[in-house]
Amino acid sequence: MSLLQKDIQNIWHPFTQTYGSEAPVAIVKGEGLYLIDEEGNRIVDAVSSWWTSIHGHCHPYIAQKIAEQASTLDHVIFAGFTHPKAVDLSQHLLRLLPANFSKIFFSDDGSTAVEVAIKMAVQYWHNQGQTKNRIIAFKEAYHGDTFGAMAIGERGAFTKAFESLFFEVDFIDAPLPGSEDRCLQQLQAAMRPDTAAFIFEPLLLGTAGMQMYSAEVLQKMVDLCKASGVLTIADEVLTGFYRTGKCFATNNLKSGSDIICLSKGITGGTMALGVTACAQHIYDAFVSEDKFKTFFHGHSYTGNPIACAAACANLELLATAESLQKISELCRLQAQWAHHFAAHPALHIARNLGTITALEIKTGDNTSYFNTLRDTIYQHFMRKNILLRPLGNIIYVLPPYCITADELKHIYSEIELFLNQLHTKA
Ligand SMILES: Cc1ncc(COP(=O)(O)O)c(C=O)c1O
Repeated sequence: MSLLQKDIQNIWHPFTQTYGSEAPVAIVKGEGLYLIDEEGNRIVDAVSSWWTSIHGHCHPYIAQKIAEQASTLDHVIFAGFTHPKAVDLSQHLLRLLPANFSKIFFSDDGSTAVEVAIKMAVQYWHNQGQTKNRIIAFKEAYHGDTFGAMAIGERGAFTKAFESLFFEVDFIDAPLPGSEDRCLQQLQAAMRPDTAAFIFEPLLLGTAGMQMYSAEVLQKMVDLCKASGVLTIADEVLTGFYRTGKCFATNNLKSGSDIICLSKGITGGTMALGVTACAQHIYDAFVSEDKFKTFFHGHSYTGNPIACAAACANLELLATAESLQKISELCRLQAQWAHHFAAHPALHIARNLGTITALEIKTGDNTSYFNTLRDTIYQHFMRKNILLRPLGNIIYVLPPYCITADELKHIYSEIELFLNQLHTKA
């Protein structure tokens, strides 16, 4: 039986409607920008494998540090124990994060980092004798697939079956260009005496189609929350680690949020790891003689040493002049490509933020994840050995930072050919 036959027999893949869909591609090796399949085809990973890969696949330094850690200390229960890589990582992260952060809580992935943030915010008030349990969130946001994370995200096809089980959330529109004042008013109106926190994807709503908004309006939103005693939670699961040009998107704000969620790029795209960092005043609300004020949350693999070692190696690499140079060059090139496509007749708009460029194709239908163009685009580019996973009619290029100018040009030349054909047919 081939690898694919065994896969089909045994495995249920994420976000995949098996009925009518093509068999998965069997990848046997990763190398920098490329995923290599069983036949030796080199597939360009233009989406950093779900936005995780930072320096490219199988970076030798991270691989070496993972191997060293795996033969030194694979895992240890993290309640009542600690280990050097967790401590190193916490110190490194706190040096990088805005100055108001002082404690690091580990979990497993982006969704659990968000769950931890919601629970921290609600229990912060509870521990002070106040019932504040309402969360304000952006309508189109995506924060993950666990129940709390689903509840505070876009309500739609992904969440339909579960909505009766969600807690109530106060949704406001994201302040996309042109709607800033309206959204500020919505935020003001949504704040109630029992509001615990406002959670946001800073500057970039990823799953909503790489929608971008300004740091100025986010600053105003954070200021409004601070003035009303509402906690702020920045979900930087996607935006962290230079995706938007700066180390964190919230580095564009004068003051940081109270809580921040990190994952995806934290290990360079090698191991699952989530981090929720908080300001000292949040932590202080949990330190008490009263055992019921404990933060009763943890997972079997919380603070896993191999994941922490991978993250430390990733951050060491990110701190080198070479990486920072590659990131700023990628930002420059991505902005240039967005400019190049700005007037393309097949496009509604081309937008760029840091290392990410998104091209929104004009369609008769609404822009949505389920736009039928999505499958056509995906299959077209897979035939060209380029992995693009459009969000409906929105193509985005979010590559690892090791990509060269020529490799980027190859991706965009193929995109241009596709868009030209699309326009000619229309
Ligand atoms: C902003 C944001 N938050 C949270 C998540 C959930 O992360 P994970 O898929 O690691 O659970 C994602 C995933 O795409 C995300 O983009």
